[in-house]
Amino acid sequence: MIENRLRCEILKDRIMEAKEAAKFFKKDMVVGASGFTPAGYPKSVPLALAERGEKGEDLGLTIITGASVGDELDGALSRAGVLKRRYPYQTNKNSRNGINDGSIQYADMHLSHVPQWVKSGFFGNIDIALVEAVAIREDGGIIPSTSIGNSNVFVEKADKVIVEINTSQPLSLEGVHDIYSPENPPNRKPIPLTKTNERIGTDYIPCDPDKIVAIVISDIKDKTRPVAPIDDISKQMAKHLIKFLEKEVEKERLPENLLPLQSGVGSVANAVLGGLVDSNFENLTIYSEVIQDSALDLLDSGKVTFASGTSLTVSPERLDDFYENFDKYKDRVLLRPQEISNNPEVIRRLGIIAMNTAIEVDIYGNVNSTNIMGSKMMNGIGGSGDFTRNAYLSIFTTQSIAKNGDVSSIVPMVSHHDHTEHDVHVIVTEQGVADLRGLSPKERAIEIIDNCAHPEYKEQLLEYLNGSYEICASKHTPHSIDKSLSWHKKFLDSGTMKK
Ligand code: COA
Repeated sequence: MIENRLRCEILKDRIMEAKEAAKFFKKDMVVGASGFTPAGYPKSVPLALAERGEKGEDLGLTIITGASVGDELDGALSRAGVLKRRYPYQTNKNSRNGINDGSIQYADMHLSHVPQWVKSGFFGNIDIALVEAVAIREDGGIIPSTSIGNSNVFVEKADKVIVEINTSQPLSLEGVHDIYSPENPPNRKPIPLTKTNERIGTDYIPCDPDKIVAIVISDIKDKTRPVAPIDDISKQMAKHLIKFLEKEVEKERLPENLLPLQSGVGSVANAVLGGLVDSNFENLTIYSEVIQDSALDLLDSGKVTFASGTSLTVSPERLDDFYENFDKYKDRVLLRPQEISNNPEVIRRLGIIAMNTAIEVDIYGNVNSTNIMGSKMMNGIGGSGDFTRNAYLSIFTTQSIAKNGDVSSIVPMVSHHDHTEHDVHVIVTEQGVADLRGLSPKERAIEIIDNCAHPEYKEQLLEYLNGSYEICASKHTPHSIDKSLSWHKKFLDSGTMKK
């Protein structure tokens, strides 16, 4: 069985237990780990590292990944106090707590920046690349599992490589990856990718076998997160979005099969993309980061002909079926390094329709996707900025209210800025669609309040707007500086934004 997966003769004597492999990690090391939105991350070695932390050892590791990883890495290392620094994205409860209480230093980064930073040494030296694989080729080449993220760059730059061969991940994943690594400036060339389904690289991560110091055999499955059932509110958002896209086709601003779709993470994004299953659109393509349940549904229904991403993140309920029947998707799915999936050059060239989720949006079209009430880190910006800024159309979806109506997601001023008014083209809530393209700030405010705000907050928003006009009518973006964040303060003081 393992012969199938470990095909390089000289590496066979480097198979060891996770505990042994964990001994390569020393205090303050910088580790590049595979994994992207709980898929394809290493599991056994991080658990062994956590054990060292639990026994009182102060390891203080810096962990860089593609994006979020499962509990065996972020959760276990956070609980054991092993994680000192974390880049560039996470969704784990324990690491989130550590980030918010300051015990873990976290810099929330655009995902497309990370590979360049690694290659350029902005994070310092990468001591160890720890990557999950389905197999290692005869020449040492690593065949990743359900994600690529930054694995190729970590393997290229790290002093040592440790591979977890995961036997629960199907060998049929071999051939689904396309590894291409642009050179650093000033030698960088155009990325030769003009269609979502083009291959431009190798189907394995090139690696000198001498760099591989340990191989650990594991069978722990990806711990993906369940997605919330699609509720009526999400269905309503999907309906508005589809109607908007249909109108764009009617006006000949989009082709009939649209342009490649990118969809963000989370339950709302999954539900909104899922809504396309019931639409009249055909021959759609996906060029995104995460290929999640709704993308599989679109592939199953034949609505989507091809999906390119950097991770296959399938909910726990359908993971076994997905592993067993992966062959049916194989010719219609491609995984790329995040340096390519999230690359601004490619996103602009392909003309992506980007659909991401906001926590809150302000009346002028600025978006907060990361910090609750301006302060508490939720997940991170992920790839939403890579896509939003460079998309043909950048759309944000959010429910118009949160916390049972005590929070309006449309606010006078966002309490944290991730996506500015310059990058946000369209807002969709269950109330309707605000098309902000070409509108001045004052026009945008009316468009957003009229079409996207919840009826319970409309009057309050208009009151704020009118009050701001009184103070600074002759200004471009009127704000009452003393009141602009008063809604957040009111929620923090009294538990509601309502008057
Ligand atoms: N004020 C306060 N809290 C709010 C809020 C608001 N305006 N809007 C949402 N929330 C809270 C919800 O109540 C929920 O809290 P809970 O976990 O305590 O229940 C939480 O935020 C998540 O909201 P939910 O409605 O379940 O959204 P989601 O699962 O669709 O996630 C984001 C939404 C924005 C957090 C998520 O999409 C994200 O992290 N985005 C940034 C990264 C990204 O876009 N990546 C895309 C490319 S990978």
